[in-house]
Amino acid sequence: MQIKNICCIGAGYVGGPTMAVIADKCQNINVDVVDIDLKRIQKWNSSNLEELPIYEPGLKEIIQRCRDKNLKFSTSIKEKINNADMIFISVNTPTKKKGFGAGKASDLKWVEACARQVALYASNHTIVVEKSTLPVRTAGVIKEILNESEISTKNSNLKKTFDVLSNPEFLAEGSAINDLISPDRVLIGGENPNAIDCLAQIYQKWVPDEKILRTNLWSSELAKLTSNAFLAQRISSINSISAICEETGADIREVSKAIGSDSRIGSKFLNSGPGFGGSCFKKDILNIVYLSEFFGLPEVASFWESVVRLNDWQQHRISKLIVRKLFGTLSNKKIVILGFAFKANTNDTRESPAKNISKDLLEEGASLVIHDPKVSSDQINFDLKIESTKPLTGGKNISFDLEGKWQKENNLEDCFKDADAVILLTEWDEYKNIKWEKVFGQMRKPSWVFDTRSITNPSEVRKAGLNLWRIGDGL
Ligand code: UDX
Ligand code: ADP
Repeated sequence: MQIKNICCIGAGYVGGPTMAVIADKCQNINVDVVDIDLKRIQKWNSSNLEELPIYEPGLKEIIQRCRDKNLKFSTSIKEKINNADMIFISVNTPTKKKGFGAGKASDLKWVEACARQVALYASNHTIVVEKSTLPVRTAGVIKEILNESEISTKNSNLKKTFDVLSNPEFLAEGSAINDLISPDRVLIGGENPNAIDCLAQIYQKWVPDEKILRTNLWSSELAKLTSNAFLAQRISSINSISAICEETGADIREVSKAIGSDSRIGSKFLNSGPGFGGSCFKKDILNIVYLSEFFGLPEVASFWESVVRLNDWQQHRISKLIVRKLFGTLSNKKIVILGFAFKANTNDTRESPAKNISKDLLEEGASLVIHDPKVSSDQINFDLKIESTKPLTGGKNISFDLEGKWQKENNLEDCFKDADAVILLTEWDEYKNIKWEKVFGQMRKPSWVFDTRSITNPSEVRKAGLNLWRIGDGL
């Protein structure tokens, strides 16, 4: 079977970049990305490429090359499903907020809705690919729904048949395009080798075959969760050691380098920081926790749950120590938050440590000035909706005598006037070149810098006259 028409349901952080790269690499395939969110689709179709709904280095260049040629964004879900030989399901799967499994299990209502739409509108033979991160055995749910459609059309002219594949996404935000163009591996899980080959042939256009791993459905689903769980576990491990460093006089950067030089451990993902964020790590671990509890494996559940617990603790311990260093109170104190995205080079704030730390500080009565090169005021407003918050617009003439409020500042240089502390929370490049001497001149004294990302040069900051706290720095 030759794939000519792809439909991707869900135009988000995964669907958008993934389909852009497939369209760019396979110009003989029509790629339609559909979404129920009209506003999001309008942004994908905006003539101003700065207005794309997600920021990802290298993305707008691909959109410019392919959009309206073999890559199209629309809300024509029924029509595009009907026309497709292959359908990617790339919708959101957040952690359930209520009901059975609340706080741990993934909410599959969007995936199920997609499967039902596919069952209804697809024609002939269709390969359905799970792209969203899903709990193990979700492919079973999709198959069951599609199976009903197969049975009911069996003896008609409009006979429908399906194959279901799992093809988890391993892209990291901020480097998504690069990760898609040069992946460490592409994982395809499925039952029908012909369907697996169809998808493999698409990737073979730019990925060497030895990097395309073929597994059964359940291994593929579990490998995705496990990959993220292992990465997150490394971050919680190194963050736990950062706290020991601060007590003992050791330096976490030196410890990371020393352990990372062991080829069995490896040097990547050993940067201690304010805790992991992003839409995947916490959700995927909680999925493993839920699965383990479901299968009667409480020890396994509690092992993985501790990774998330440590991550939450790391964020709150940073908030607490900021309050402590600023004489136990943040009332009438102006604090500059540098970075609101969960990591650099993305505008995504899902599970961002900056969100939790900002909320903690607002609850202590701080006046925050928030800067981020890519996150909008609207997004920050949405994220910080807590009762104590009084968002201010316009920026400038603000008195800092009210408790718990924030403002967004777009110009980095205008952030520091009369500030008591600067907290570096996202490792954006522009924060690495801050002229601390100039900043010190504008701040109230004593002035503090809290560097949770190890991006400052400590001697420069201290020489400028500032007090410096760095993550995992015991000196
Ligand atoms: C992750 C996985 O890397 C990717 O394979 C998967 O498909 C989706 O989830 P993402 O969440 O986009 O990607 O970013 P990632 O680079 O993994 O970072 C996750 C979080 O860990 C960020 O908050 C980051 O700042 C933090 N991190 C990462 C550290 O604190 N220290 C590190 O050494 C690395
Ligand atoms: P991810 O990071 O997994 O890509 P996002 O939240 O960025 O998650 O994107 C998921 C997208 O899926 C959203 O734009 C949402 O509107 C879309 N979506 C959810 N359910 C459906 C559906 N049934 N049909 C079409 N699009 C959907």
